[in-house]
Amino acid sequence: MVGTGSTHVRQGEVTMSRYAQVYEGWKADPEAFWAQAAQDIDWDRPWDQVVKTTEGGGAEWFVGATCNTCYNCLDRHVANGRADQAALIYDSPITGKQKTFTYAELLDKVATFAGVLRANGVGQGDRVIIYMPMVPQAAVAMLACARIGAIHSVVFGGFASNELATRIDDAKPKLIVSASCGIEPGRVIAYKALLDGAIELATHKVDHCIIFQREQERATLIPGRDLDWKEEMDKAAAAGNKPDCVSVAATDPLYVLYTSGTTGQPKGVVRDNGGHMVALKWSMKNVYGVDPGDVWWAASDVGWVVGHSYIVYGPLLHGCTTILFEGKPVGTPDAGTFWRVIAEHKVRAFFTAPTAFRAIKKEDPKATLVAQYDLSGFETLFLAGERADPDTIQWAERTLGVPVIDHWWQTETGWAIAANPVGLGTLPVKYGSPTVAMPGYDVQVVDENAQPVATGESGAVVLKLPLPPGCLPTLWENEDGFRSSYLADYPGFYKTADAGFVDEDGYIYIMSRTDDIINVAGHRLSTGGMEEVLAGHPDVAECAVMGIADKLKGQVPVGLLVLNAGVDRPTEDIQREAVKLVRDKIGPVAALKIALVVQRLPKTRSGKILRATMRKIADGEEWKMPATIDDPVILDEITGVLRDAGLVTER
Ligand code: COA
Ligand code: AMP
Repeated sequence: MVGTGSTHVRQGEVTMSRYAQVYEGWKADPEAFWAQAAQDIDWDRPWDQVVKTTEGGGAEWFVGATCNTCYNCLDRHVANGRADQAALIYDSPITGKQKTFTYAELLDKVATFAGVLRANGVGQGDRVIIYMPMVPQAAVAMLACARIGAIHSVVFGGFASNELATRIDDAKPKLIVSASCGIEPGRVIAYKALLDGAIELATHKVDHCIIFQREQERATLIPGRDLDWKEEMDKAAAAGNKPDCVSVAATDPLYVLYTSGTTGQPKGVVRDNGGHMVALKWSMKNVYGVDPGDVWWAASDVGWVVGHSYIVYGPLLHGCTTILFEGKPVGTPDAGTFWRVIAEHKVRAFFTAPTAFRAIKKEDPKATLVAQYDLSGFETLFLAGERADPDTIQWAERTLGVPVIDHWWQTETGWAIAANPVGLGTLPVKYGSPTVAMPGYDVQVVDENAQPVATGESGAVVLKLPLPPGCLPTLWENEDGFRSSYLADYPGFYKTADAGFVDEDGYIYIMSRTDDIINVAGHRLSTGGMEEVLAGHPDVAECAVMGIADKLKGQVPVGLLVLNAGVDRPTEDIQREAVKLVRDKIGPVAALKIALVVQRLPKTRSGKILRATMRKIADGEEWKMPATIDDPVILDEITGVLRDAGLVTER
């Protein structure tokens, strides 16, 4: 394991890392560890039990306690001297706008919107879907739900109507909050049209939609159903309708966030109130090394877990200033945008996905734009969301001259499973490893019989139960799905569905997924979901989608289509329609740009499509002819098709 004697250098001073000591402290007495961390949260009523394991193996934290997440994010800071400190800075290079909200101002907006929700019939436990671009109103809506004990479910704006409809039917919201449009480089996306399409498709009907009208494209509101954000806010403000925080159980859901599973049906990851606050607050200081009052920036989207944990909740719980950035790493207006934001707002620590750095590196390989900005206050760059390749990390280190910290986690956990804990003292970096397990996580690597593998050997990465605070206690109204997806395969452990190994120093390496999830530009997508859409094309008999290596996005999906007998339309037309179908049904974020017609798909004798073998061929990796293959010639045919399309990486 990592010795206590490891050192790190920060601002000229050598410090010992306290990691090993803190991790061992957690292991010796997990309940005492989290009870201590919970002292940093304001509770309405203390807990009776720190952790209670449910029958299925899930964990409930701080049972019996009551609290309010919005109170801990806003009210208590206003009461304790942070009223005039910037809470949220909206920086939108795509619209040329910037706006700062102090803690007092943000609290006022949130309380007012809580009044709007209440006035429109939303109560404790009701769900509210938030389908919004990266505007401050999205964070306001999330916190307003938390204030009145409503459960929000944010849906990423890059998903189309069908995906939104699936989430509406699962979450059964009382109300949807949306905006007239989102803005992507070169185009305005009419969210309202997508929203109307989703409502049309969904079986569950909502009472109201509250629409934030943006000047780039105003939406036509449907009388009786749609309400104007501004009008509603004005009404609530005039009536002084600004409800106080309600006390909720620590174990009550704060939000449901849908994430890709192995089918087209997304999984509703539930996040509680109490454990979530404790874990995020602890992580801000210990993992990220930032202090209250610091400016912190996570360049993600509120539609993803990083946006929930580290644009909204984590930094506000900690009393930081958070940046909500509506732009891209390149093209808004150039590859220097990130440096501009860091310099202008005096960001101390910044979190993004490796793909963003690959995009910048492609555009400005020598990082010439960095010289234009004063980055002297910038201390640490954090990367997560996908495997951080050593090249990207080293380029970032050279460019910025700060430690670059890879860390590994997933929607389900809500915060880092493995990291290099800056606040505890940074450990030596090993490129390709997100470093070591955080307190709360006992990370093990096992074989298919759930037996531990030897140090350095690859296998399935699993987490010993119970999971720490902050992690999902269950799936939304789907306890059976929770158990079968995560707990059934390795009794006593949570299945991360990642594969990797742990080295002799306890450093964790995460190499790939064990399921059919792919990671495209840091976005988690289901190839199974894309296959379900492609199979719906009338000319397609069967299909396979695989994720192949991509220099910019890490992976991109490629669809292979076998047509029905007798189809004699031009294959180019069918391929184009297939791509459009995925874009229309799942959304542009699926990034499926290539669908290829093939004669046959390679299968095992029992009929399983050999996706992994095809992927290895495309990625130029070593592969073995599967012993169970039905007809080896088909792999030659596929190789030919992939090569003709320029999709085989030659090594
Ligand atoms: N609303 C509507 N459409 C969206 C969208 C949104 N919120 N977000 C993305 N899209 C669209 C994009 O415009 C793009 O459309 P296109 O096919 O017409 O070009 C498509 O979805 C794919 O988006 P993306 O995969 O993000 O590719 P990109 O080329 O637009 O940008 C990067 C590539 C690397 C610059 C971008 O992915 C990025 O900044 N990533 C940062 C990492 C990140 O945020 N990760 C989240 C988890 S930490
Ligand atoms: P998401 O739930 O969208 O956050 O995606 C989580 C998945 O992304 C993980 O299960 C991993 O497969 C992958 N992932 C996230 N961070 C890392 C990382 N630092 N290294 C390797 N893979 C990662």
